[in-house]
Amino acid sequence: MGILDDKVVLITGTGGGQGRVAAQIFAREGAKVIGCDLKADLNNETVELVRRAGGEMTGFAPVDLTDPKQVERFVQSAASVYGGIDVVYNNAAYQRFGPIPEFSVEDWRATVAGELDIPFFVSKYAWPHLVRRGGGVILSIASISGMIAGETPPMVAHTATKAGVIAMTRQFALEGAPHGIRAVAISSGPVLTPASERDLGDNQAARDAITQKTLLKRFGKPEEIVELAAFLASDKASYITGANYAVDGGATAW
Ligand SMILES: NC(=O)c1ccc[n+]([C@@H]2O[C@H](COP(=O)([O-])OP(=O)(O)OC[C@H]3O[C@@H](n4cnc5c(N)ncnc54)[C@H](O)[C@@H]3O)[C@@H](O)[C@H]2O)c1
Repeated sequence: MGILDDKVVLITGTGGGQGRVAAQIFAREGAKVIGCDLKADLNNETVELVRRAGGEMTGFAPVDLTDPKQVERFVQSAASVYGGIDVVYNNAAYQRFGPIPEFSVEDWRATVAGELDIPFFVSKYAWPHLVRRGGGVILSIASISGMIAGETPPMVAHTATKAGVIAMTRQFALEGAPHGIRAVAISSGPVLTPASERDLGDNQAARDAITQKTLLKRFGKPEEIVELAAFLASDKASYITGANYAVDGGATAW
């Protein structure tokens, strides 16, 4: 028995990082997982890993989730795989970093598309499927940079868009409640994934600055985010909606 037995869960960005671990942990908890990613090879690898462990997963890739037409088609196909959708897990994101004067308009727009458009498009097109089911959960991965400013690396667009994800979650919760839809955000602290490895490279000073801001003096692991996500997506969290949970090793505590 898992806490997500038979729930159909649509997870975005399952090609790696937190999304891959989410597919594995949600499948372990009994969910039927539908994953998608821009990167087909990596997404297929995740499907293989989940199935080899005895889990249930169907993958769609490549899908560019910044394109509303592709999202609409993908969500439609996803809903037909297992006959509906119970949980939307907004994990996928793309962002750029840089100090304000050097941060181009294109950098700004790419980050807004990668961090705000994606969860809005996916949630919008999944919404009628959740309503049809009599309710469900929209779980969105925000960031502590939506709660506090971030020095390393400079992150003007990331702070604005992740604050937007937290705000959008409250609105999803308000408009979703009459339909039985709960909406919850998790604000991730620094976690080592392909994205953070790419952004930090061999910049040890940046890595140290980031871990020093946490109380636990280390990066988080993807599973430390995803275990909470599994609980929040389950019926055990039935009184939780409109909330934002920081999972950050204490980085927002001081
Ligand atoms: N890693 C961290 O330190 C950290 C901190 C705070 C918040 N977060 C958030 O956690 C979530 C997961 O982050 P991660 O570190 O695992 O990232 P990641 O880059 O390792 O994984 C993101 C996945 O999303 C996919 N993706 C990106 N753009 C896409 C698009 N347009 N269409 C389809 N797929 C797309 C990527 O291919 C990738 O597989 C994101 O929302 C991120 O903003 C991460």
